[in-house]
Amino acid sequence: MLKSIVRIFGAILIVSIYSCSPEEKYDALSFFLDGVPEPGAEGLDTLISDTTKFASSASARNRVRAKVYYHPPYKDKECPECHVRSQGNRLREPMPGLCYQCHDDFADEFAFVHGPVVSGFCTQCHNPHTSKYKKLMLREGQEVCLYCHLRSDVFAGEDHEGIDDTICWECHNPHGGEDRFIMN
Ligand code: HEC
Ligand code: HEC
Ligand code: HEC
Ligand code: HEC
Ligand code: HEC
Repeated sequence: MLKSIVRIFGAILIVSIYSCSPEEKYDALSFFLDGVPEPGAEGLDTLISDTTKFASSASARNRVRAKVYYHPPYKDKECPECHVRSQGNRLREPMPGLCYQCHDDFADEFAFVHGPVVSGFCTQCHNPHTSKYKKLMLREGQEVCLYCHLRSDVFAGEDHEGIDDTICWECHNPHGGEDRFIMN
């Protein structure tokens, strides 16, 4: 019984239980459960700890579904690699140079570099801190590209007949290529 209630209210319980006083914990628990001992009464701490344990396992399952990807320098709190804290967190230098402190310059790799990459619009496609999508993408699938390229233009030509929802970078490299069509 307790377990199933906790599943349903797991998220709410977690929010209400973590980091609050025994009285608040009591309120939160007694809101959902009957027969919660008075604050200070023996057994309350065990109940809270058991409930928190169940709630944590429920939240662990949620976390599997909503995975977050971290950019290593953000995760490692290397904020000063990119920001000058004493100056309102302004960027140390403009992109793409900011990113090329650690990543290879795409202009060295490709004869032709994709427009937004040359112009340093890395953060039109990537989040520099975290993302729910792989490779720190801001959007998913074709939406990454159709954010700038009009769907009506892209799907008008023969080149894209029948690609359906094939990811654009199966054929195009998102950063650059041999010529302006940036093919893989
Ligand atoms: C790899 C470089 C990089 C690192 C490391 C980094 N940031 Fe950022 N941060 C950026 C860029 C780039 C932007 C601007 C994003 C944009 O174009 O909108 C930004 C934006 C911000 C902003 C403005 C609000 C927002 O979220 O867009 C804050 C605040 C911030 N960063 C804080 C931090 C803190 C705190 C850390 C360390 C824990 C950190 N950053 C680490 C690159 C970085
Ligand atoms: C202080 C060093 C540093 C800077 C500056 C930096 N990165 Fe990174 N970045 C890393 C490291 C380390 C990795 C993980 C290893 C790798 O993929 O090269 C990484 C990985 C990535 C990845 C792949 C993430 C993944 O999940 O595979 C992307 C995308 C990325 N960085 C974008 C950027 C962008 C955009 C900027 C500029 C706003 C930037 N980085 C600036 C260090 C940096
Ligand atoms: C037009 C969108 C777009 C722009 C702009 C862009 N990227 Fe990317 N980037 C992508 C996509 C899409 C991928 C994932 C490719 C894949 O999964 O094979 C990627 C992957 C990466 C990776 C991971 C490479 C790997 O093999 O794991 C890094 C690092 C990266 N980008 C850095 C940058 C930097 C630095 C800039 C700016 C100079 C930039 N990107 C600008 C779309 C973009
Ligand atoms: C932030 C906006 C932006 C995003 C997002 C973007 N592009 Fe582009 N793309 C441009 C610009 C700007 C040009 C240069 C346009 C020009 O020169 O006519 C360009 C040019 C191109 C070209 C060459 C077109 C030509 O006629 O020369 C191709 C191919 C292309 N992009 C594919 C992609 C793919 C694939 C993605 C997703 C991975 C993508 N783009 C995402 C802005 C973007
Ligand atoms: C099956 C491979 C394939 C896929 C997937 C693909 N393209 Fe293309 N794309 C091509 C080819 C081939 C060309 C023409 C290249 C040439 O003329 O040399 C092209 C040309 C382009 C051009 C320039 C000419 C035009 O039609 O405007 C843009 C922009 C473009 N693609 C964007 C995209 C976007 C955005 C996506 C994802 C929605 C995408 N492509 C998916 C193969 C592909």
